[in-house]
Amino acid sequence: MERLFSRDASFRRVEVIRRGAEAEIRIGEWMGRRVIVKSRVPKTYRHPDLDQSLRSSRTRNEARLIREARLSGVPTPLIYDIDLEKAEIVMEEVRGERVKDALGKAAPSEIESICREIGRLAAVLHRSGIVHGDLTTSNMIIRDGKIWLIDFSLGERNAELEELGVDLHLLKQAFLSAHSEIFHSFHIVVDSYKQHFERAGEVLKRVKEIEGRGRYT
Ligand SMILES: Nc1ncnc2c1ncn2[C@@H]1O[C@H](COP(=O)(O)OP(=O)(O)O)[C@@H](O)[C@H]1O
Ligand SMILES: [Mg+2]
Repeated sequence: MERLFSRDASFRRVEVIRRGAEAEIRIGEWMGRRVIVKSRVPKTYRHPDLDQSLRSSRTRNEARLIREARLSGVPTPLIYDIDLEKAEIVMEEVRGERVKDALGKAAPSEIESICREIGRLAAVLHRSGIVHGDLTTSNMIIRDGKIWLIDFSLGERNAELEELGVDLHLLKQAFLSAHSEIFHSFHIVVDSYKQHFERAGEVLKRVKEIEGRGRYT
């Protein structure tokens, strides 16, 4: 994607809201609107050229997946700008609550509809061969019952059965650890996944295999 306007004139960084191991998230202002800026931070332990090329390729990969997921029908933030040199993505700020926090205080009927939607979104994503790579409820934002997926930094396209299985396995593990008190609701996620993805049976079989491997190694 080409930059449409000079960044100096249109762009202003405002505040850092989160500093992760790989990326820094800021609220910024771009073309007069509040945006999220995700930058991949330099790692001094890597050779500078390698570091630059890793940061740009990961930025490109994430931006591409955010866009492709959206095209496949999964709500994701709109991408406004990409700067490969700075390893930066400027995107829509999804104003809502992390699903992780929402689930913690939701009523049973809400829990059910959230779980349904999580299963459906995983299915829609997998149907188009995309794996998210980090399907945790921290990487989902909810507003008025609609859920957006964010953080595709570990995602991949053209996923094989094994990768789909791993993706779903990680979702289950994350759900188990973050939401142990409502873990019995996870079957709703699975039912909904089955309902929306014709290869769900194969993937779930693979998840069982993956779990089995975990037990004996
Ligand atoms: N587009 C966005 N809209 C709203 N909040 C966001 C957006 N992108 C990131 N965030 C917030 O920043 C946090 C970290 O961003 P994320 O992309 O998940 O980076 P990391 O790789 O560090 O986990 C998210 O959990 C969310 O709270
Ligand atoms: Mg994240």
